[in-house]
Amino acid sequence: MQRIDGREYFEGEFTLPGDKSITHRAIMFNAGAEGEAHVTGALMGEDCLSTMECMRALGAEIQTDGNALHIKGAPSFKQNQQLNCGNSGTTIRLLTGFLAGKQTQATLFGDASLSTRPMKRVAEPLSLLGAEIQTTDGHAPVHVLSKPLHGAKVDISVSSAQVKSAVLLAGVSADGETTLTEPIQSRDHTERMLAAMGADICVNGNSVTVKKSKLRAVDVCVPADISSAAYFMALGALKGKTLCKNVGVNPTRTGILTAFDKLGVKYSLCNRGVSGGEEMADILVEKSDMRAICLTAQDVPAMIDELPLIALLCAFADGESRITGAKELRVKESDRIRTTAELINRLGGDCIELPDGFIIRGKRKLYGGDMDSYLDHRIAMTAAVGMLASEKGGNLSRGECCAISFPDFFEKIGVKLG
Ligand code: S3P
Repeated sequence: MQRIDGREYFEGEFTLPGDKSITHRAIMFNAGAEGEAHVTGALMGEDCLSTMECMRALGAEIQTDGNALHIKGAPSFKQNQQLNCGNSGTTIRLLTGFLAGKQTQATLFGDASLSTRPMKRVAEPLSLLGAEIQTTDGHAPVHVLSKPLHGAKVDISVSSAQVKSAVLLAGVSADGETTLTEPIQSRDHTERMLAAMGADICVNGNSVTVKKSKLRAVDVCVPADISSAAYFMALGALKGKTLCKNVGVNPTRTGILTAFDKLGVKYSLCNRGVSGGEEMADILVEKSDMRAICLTAQDVPAMIDELPLIALLCAFADGESRITGAKELRVKESDRIRTTAELINRLGGDCIELPDGFIIRGKRKLYGGDMDSYLDHRIAMTAAVGMLASEKGGNLSRGECCAISFPDFFEKIGVKLG
């Protein structure tokens, strides 16, 4: 358990860990590509280590040196491997699609939380390409059988970068052309990286078309993760001034800035650049008086992982906020509608659960209170921000799970591990 005291000020310049989504992809795609690649700035969080171990088990050679990786792809994947995806939805869903057309059989499994998360959402669309994916009542363990794949038109009803990526990765090994359409564009790191690796891929609005392609290894310089920077950006808005360096600002990921615009948070982007096909910038955020906001389904994909934190900011704002169209939060590492509402209420705020979101009556100040992480890294870090920004702080149980995406989070916010 960690004691987190409320603080008057929070200021500083922060270098955040590498982007989780990009790191997963850099490891997985290069491990199945021709040639060798160097990846710098990789996230060495537990989820990405799960991807690394799976790709090693399949035959790729991966050497690590701090946050740098050297990857030599496997010419063909080893057969009948038992692949432990740990807590990582991105690992299990992307890898299911990647393996589907690779003439290999494998079983993918994970921890208790991952075993409750829906897997039919990848198995069903992949079956349209001829893949045979057997789930366990719609969940992990998932068995991928070896089948020849053919291109298909796939429409998915929920915007999901994990499902989209699984289909596109299978599409790369399928004869002909595969087109995936989602209702609202989700993060596009897969499309960008596959294009950089020489895949025949074309994006048209919410649709992506890929043809059978050979992938060439590509070096990747991973920007800092905006989903990790978000906690420090929020602390700047609540308590002082923060500068987050070299943050990935791919427009499919910057929903937190849309939320900041609506809340009235003062921020600016400087030192803009592009690295490995991904935009990045330094983000400066200053203490701001916030007003209530309204977010709907259209806003959700670009801020999906930041919604618990955005809901918390609403609790510190003036007026009644409404967030809807976010039903996906119910099937994350925890039911994030339930756990976020519990967190806000425990801190002394007023949050009502909706089937697909929240109503938050902002109080400008929160008293503080205790919370369990439910072993969900984003709930742990949102709780830590809420306690630090509250008057009396609180005790956080099982906060160590932040190592999934942000191993030195507590060190960076200046909280001693209990
Ligand atoms: C991710 C996609 C999102 C996100 C997750 C990472 C990815 O999940 O929540 O943390 O890297 O593709 P969904 O595809 O389920 O929305």
